[in-house]
Amino acid sequence: MMDPLAIDIEGLVVIRGKNLVIPDLTVTVPRGSVTGLLGPSGCGKTTLIRSIAGIQRLQSGRVHVLGGPAGTTAARERVGYVTQNSSVYPDLTVLQNLRYFAALAGTSEAATREALANVGLEGKADALTADLSGGQRTRVSLAAALLMDPELLLLDEPTVGLDPVLRRDLWHLFAALAAGGRTLLVSSHVMDEAGRCDRVLLMREGRLIADSSPDELRHRTGQTDLEQAFLTLAERSAA
Ligand SMILES: Nc1ncnc2c1ncn2[C@@H]1O[C@H](COP(=O)(O)OP(=O)(O)O)[C@@H](O)[C@H]1O
Ligand SMILES: [Mg+2]
Repeated sequence: MMDPLAIDIEGLVVIRGKNLVIPDLTVTVPRGSVTGLLGPSGCGKTTLIRSIAGIQRLQSGRVHVLGGPAGTTAARERVGYVTQNSSVYPDLTVLQNLRYFAALAGTSEAATREALANVGLEGKADALTADLSGGQRTRVSLAAALLMDPELLLLDEPTVGLDPVLRRDLWHLFAALAAGGRTLLVSSHVMDEAGRCDRVLLMREGRLIADSSPDELRHRTGQTDLEQAFLTLAERSAA
């Protein structure tokens, strides 16, 4: 039987340098959903995502993805990770980059064009990747990850610095991917993005202060604005 959980973390502790970045974190994420990982800069979003991708050294705890331990060869083939810093080749054009990843994934030219269109970069196909803006490079990385068609897609702040129209289009794409059975974990430090997610994990100082739907979050805090809801929960968790 297929494990219904995309992510299953228990008692995760991560120390980076001298910092206890994640003191003790337990969470599960179901398949076929868009889960937002929201919290201010420095709260540990990237560290948590690295742990799920299986590239972070853990102090203790257990991280399972798609029914098995994170970071194994088997897991890595099924998990896509788009880092905050673009992981595509600057000296290739956008299309050359995607064709390279398409060759690795064994996908067609049509799929390559579709990935390009999905991230709104058709007009930049022949541009040198080095000449793109940061947001555009992130989208090339995202398209490359889409070509690998991972079951679990980890996106670290993919919408930072994008114009609102493009941001909305990307969130629609995430929802469509989830409707097709993929699982997406999308981090952001912009609270209004929480409203676009099926579920929201609110993180503060390495701890989860909420794990619920946006509506539950509003209900529990009595706030309609999600930024205000976060502040209310932050105050409660500090008290
Ligand atoms: N390589 C590192 N060595 C020591 N501390 C680190 C390292 N990387 C991150 N940190 C610390 O871990 C905390 C969480 O960082 P990070 O996971 O990048 O947060 P976020 O992605 O939410 O901005 C921060 O306090 C940061 O200073
Ligand atoms: Mg980060």
